[in-house]
Amino acid sequence: MMRIYELPDYDSMSRRAANIISAHVLLRPSCTLGLATGSTPLGIYRQLIRQYEAGDLSLEETRCVNLDEYLGLGPTHPQSYRYFMQKNFFDHININPENTHVPDGLCPDADAECARYNQVIKSLGGVDLQLLGLGHNGHIGFNEPGRSFELGTHLVDLSESTINANTRFFKSSAQVPHQALTMGIKNIMEAKQILVVVSGADKADIVRRAFAGPVSPDVPCSILQMHRDVILVGDTAALSELRKANVSIGS
Ligand code: GLP
Repeated sequence: MMRIYELPDYDSMSRRAANIISAHVLLRPSCTLGLATGSTPLGIYRQLIRQYEAGDLSLEETRCVNLDEYLGLGPTHPQSYRYFMQKNFFDHININPENTHVPDGLCPDADAECARYNQVIKSLGGVDLQLLGLGHNGHIGFNEPGRSFELGTHLVDLSESTINANTRFFKSSAQVPHQALTMGIKNIMEAKQILVVVSGADKADIVRRAFAGPVSPDVPCSILQMHRDVILVGDTAALSELRKANVSIGS
């Protein structure tokens, strides 16, 4: 089943998605949230921080597992996803640091780290709600086009387009990591519910291919059509192409 919410702009999209996350936490404070980085979720984290500051939300018992991390970047590197999560979310709320999980980019043995991370997810009872952004080439987490849908957490070589898209965050392209540790499609599909967030006209094409095109490893996010409980929250610009594809969209 898929529910689609269309909101007029980025801020209202972020508020709606944050409300879906906080509803989960309020109903079951010890739930496990799968979290994501990228620019799209930033507004959601700001909203959740506001709800916490207003006394409307507590994450004291909540557990979080992040999708991915660059290989070679540690928690103090400003472009690491652990750093991103601390600065944009965890440092501002009452989450127990022991309940925040991000793959270890400095691990000496990537295979062992991937196995450990799968075990972490399992020990938390799986992910209750997985937040996802979409890469322009259809990647989710760092699951790039053409890879198997069967994988758990694994080491990936980043595609040229992802490296190029990420270069803006680094001083030079030579500094952009070429590998990452990511939850696999298998981990993502095992989440009980998935919340996809999209914003901006530049995502309109991939949103249509994800949800109204054929399911194919060439468009990793298209596998989400096979999940039983997906919520897509997007702004009008990001949903503009999907709307033409005759899908039912709510407000
Ligand atoms: C990165 C992350 C993805 C994210 C994507 C899109 O590659 N690994 O999880 O969805 O960027 O990011 P943005 O939201 O900035 O478009």
